[in-house]
Amino acid sequence: MQSAQISFENIRKDFPILERTIRENKTLVYLDNASTTQKPNQVIDAINDYYRNHNANIHRAVYALAEEATELYEKTRDKIATFINVSNREEIIFVRGTTEAINLVAYSWGRAHLKEGDIIVTTEYEHHSNIVPWQLLTQEKHAKLEYIGMDDDGELILDDLDKYLATGKVKLVTFSLMSNVLGTISDTEKIISKCKEAGVLTLIDGAQAVPHMKVDVEKLGCDFFAFSGHKMLGPTGIGALWVRKSVLNTMTPFHGGGDMIREVHKYETTWNDLPYKFEAGTPNIADVVGLGAAIDYLLKIGMDNIRQHEVELTSYAMEKLSEVKGLHIYGTKDISKRGGVISFNFADVHPHDVAQIIDEEGIAIRSGHHCAQVLMDRLNVAATSRASFYIYNTKEEIDKLINSLNKVARIFKL
Ligand SMILES: Cc1ncc(COP(=O)(O)O)c(C=O)c1O
Repeated sequence: MQSAQISFENIRKDFPILERTIRENKTLVYLDNASTTQKPNQVIDAINDYYRNHNANIHRAVYALAEEATELYEKTRDKIATFINVSNREEIIFVRGTTEAINLVAYSWGRAHLKEGDIIVTTEYEHHSNIVPWQLLTQEKHAKLEYIGMDDDGELILDDLDKYLATGKVKLVTFSLMSNVLGTISDTEKIISKCKEAGVLTLIDGAQAVPHMKVDVEKLGCDFFAFSGHKMLGPTGIGALWVRKSVLNTMTPFHGGGDMIREVHKYETTWNDLPYKFEAGTPNIADVVGLGAAIDYLLKIGMDNIRQHEVELTSYAMEKLSEVKGLHIYGTKDISKRGGVISFNFADVHPHDVAQIIDEEGIAIRSGHHCAQVLMDRLNVAATSRASFYIYNTKEEIDKLINSLNKVARIFKL
């Protein structure tokens, strides 16, 4: 189905927050979707329905209500398997989000496998959640953390990867499928094929990609894949980690406690089956159900339609932004290589001032380092302004953004 057959204007009606006014009766223009997305009625209602009608603890009791809750929770695992295309549901672990997913891998895989002198490779455009867990791990293990550099178009320099792989010491290459600052879509196929040739595992941070394009994990061929529910219309505090079973079987538990055990004795414990070995304690059941509703919603629209809509919005925004006086856009101009995230700066105007001025018009964009200070250092800036789009955004909203940025240019006499 082509984008033209989907009414993106009707989609807005599913999002109650988009009807509200803000800052003295201004219509809310929400352009901070890389940070978190708004929630449709379908997700809000699913969570509400869960608490009103199905709430019980899962996997434990035999009574009917507990069975219903368990079924709802486990159904989302199946939906995720379909959504990201993995065939084995046992390989999907519920976590709080991408941050927890990567920390789980660093803890459970890293502490079991990394030795002194080994290398973990990440990239210069990672979110802090794909840097800090590896710093902690490599410092503890006297191993090394290395970075694939980025060129001035915001694309990764894969010669760097070749150089590190040639040492024979790399154990894991970890990178985001799409940058949360530049919107760059990584050349995943090339990176993974190089790593496979070298026998090196790969982790993909899918936080910015899964909400915006069709992702086929089996086709990607990585070993770990992480994403967050709240960036794809789902609730906060829930996400998923997929790990290839042959790797998952070599990992020790992340957290100890209820549900992750088979038998507990005074001095020893045996573990539950996968994936429960990695899901200790009472999980975030209601939000898992909400995430399931978000997946249903996205699949109904179609991920190719969503990507197409965002390509149209991003092309339009890039063109209009390039006409704003004194404004510099970071990253590639090639729309096929980027998603709907645009970072920009006005010379000598602090991004916080930009965000504050346009907030007066009810327009929400992000300013700051976007949890990517290594990238800020590479760009030689302390911060950027960032507009990021999703299915409910329109060209009219981009026009409002451009008008208010023109106002910024006038105020600062650019
Ligand atoms: C690329 C990327 N990775 C990881 C994260 C962390 O996600 P969460 O805060 O949901 O754990 C984010 C959040 O902005 C992100 O954009």
